[in-house]
Amino acid sequence: MKVCIVGTGYVGLTTATCLAFLGHEVTCLDIDEAKVATLQAGRVPIFEPFLEDLLAEAAGNIRFTSDYAEGLAGAEVVFIAVATPSLPDGMPDLRYLRAAAGSIGTHLDNDFTVVVNKSTVPIGSGNWVDALIRDSFEQRAGATGEFAVASNPEFLREGSAIADTLYPDRVVVGVDNRRGLDVLSRLYRPILDQSFVAPHFVPRPAGMGAVPLVSTDLASAELIKYAANAFLALKISFINEIGQLAEKVGADIKTVARGTGLDDRIGPRFLQPGIGWGGSCFGKDTSALVATAGEYRLDMPIIRAARDVNRRQREIVVDRLLAELRILKGRTIGILGLAFKPHTDDLRDAPALEIISRLIDLGARVKLHDPVAMDRVRREQPDLAPYLCDAAADAVAGADAVVLVTEWPQYLELPWAKLASTMRTPIILDGRYALDHQRMVAAGFRYLAVAGLAPAAADHPA
Ligand code: UGA
Repeated sequence: MKVCIVGTGYVGLTTATCLAFLGHEVTCLDIDEAKVATLQAGRVPIFEPFLEDLLAEAAGNIRFTSDYAEGLAGAEVVFIAVATPSLPDGMPDLRYLRAAAGSIGTHLDNDFTVVVNKSTVPIGSGNWVDALIRDSFEQRAGATGEFAVASNPEFLREGSAIADTLYPDRVVVGVDNRRGLDVLSRLYRPILDQSFVAPHFVPRPAGMGAVPLVSTDLASAELIKYAANAFLALKISFINEIGQLAEKVGADIKTVARGTGLDDRIGPRFLQPGIGWGGSCFGKDTSALVATAGEYRLDMPIIRAARDVNRRQREIVVDRLLAELRILKGRTIGILGLAFKPHTDDLRDAPALEIISRLIDLGARVKLHDPVAMDRVRREQPDLAPYLCDAAADAVAGADAVVLVTEWPQYLELPWAKLASTMRTPIILDGRYALDHQRMVAAGFRYLAVAGLAPAAADHPA
């Protein structure tokens, strides 16, 4: 099928590459001409494992352009995957969506086109986009053809975006039009049936069967996206809140999380305690959900609480260092991991940035390291560039304490005993409960966690 994707961020580019890999004929449209040139040269401007490999495999089916007329020529499906950053009032900034919808209306070029909202947009945006497209479509002299607007929310995670797209738990399609549903079912058929040959670098999970299609109306699809992200965010905040109590009663939160998550009804995923969530989605989407509810004079206390708990987790890191070192002024703190989670270089709402800024405010010196995000720090946070260290060992050497903020696998394998001997005081705060407590103690460290680390945990390994 002929597909056009507007916006080449994480979601747009991953969706485009996967659809092209599945055999669709995809045109990616981005108004950023420099980005288009990079993509045309086969390079991916973001760090996402295997995306460049998949793009190379799909190269024959994918094109990049900044020209709407070229992008929309003959397109049966047009995805809108533009950025929707947060405004100060918590609602997403819809200016790019508005611009995209207007241009799409001007350039629609098929008997019947399905325009799909893939960006996470406030509930009701499907109707709004429909109206915007219709306005510009009707202003066109001699415009013919029909269109339908659909919502097809995205559930991919950065760092595993390709696997999440090719092997999803479900596909959600909201469209108030039978023909539109047929088009999208046809588009996703290879994924729904899992009938494609899996790329060797992202193999199909063992035992994977057909993927459920949830077909519904626009508003329900839009709300599913927010409900899913809010639930994941609050699951993490929930275990972090329990962690605070675990600390008081002398329980080990890692074991509590495991013992709780093994209940099938709860499940172990997104129950990892620690510094909490960051990234471009959970913060933005929970705040948009609360703001949307507010338009209806509805409070969402559970979601507000999840946000508060998450903010507190970041503060606890610095409070714990203060309690341990007493004075932070003039101390050196090594920070391992800057991206908001491993396997990405994304710094949006990264807990590390907030922790670093508070440490600097309190007079501490920082030494920073990340395996992939440092170039991005240089570009997006130039103030922090002088503190970047080429190697993790350099960020640790001479420090009064080290904080593991992002659990990159390479940090787990560092020669910790050797590193301990290079520190002024060998204190490690494991913000993700990722390091082995006993091993770190044996390596000579005083081992701290965000909360809920039973004093006896070292004697009673899980
Ligand atoms: C999230 C959702 O997981 C995706 O399903 C969704 O499509 C995406 O947002 C989106 O709306 O675009 P993402 O933000 O890429 O994906 O990353 P996650 O893997 O969900 O991690 C979010 C944050 O939660 C990270 O900072 C991670 O460190 C933290 N986290 C995750 C925990 O603290 N504990 C956990 O148990 C899991």
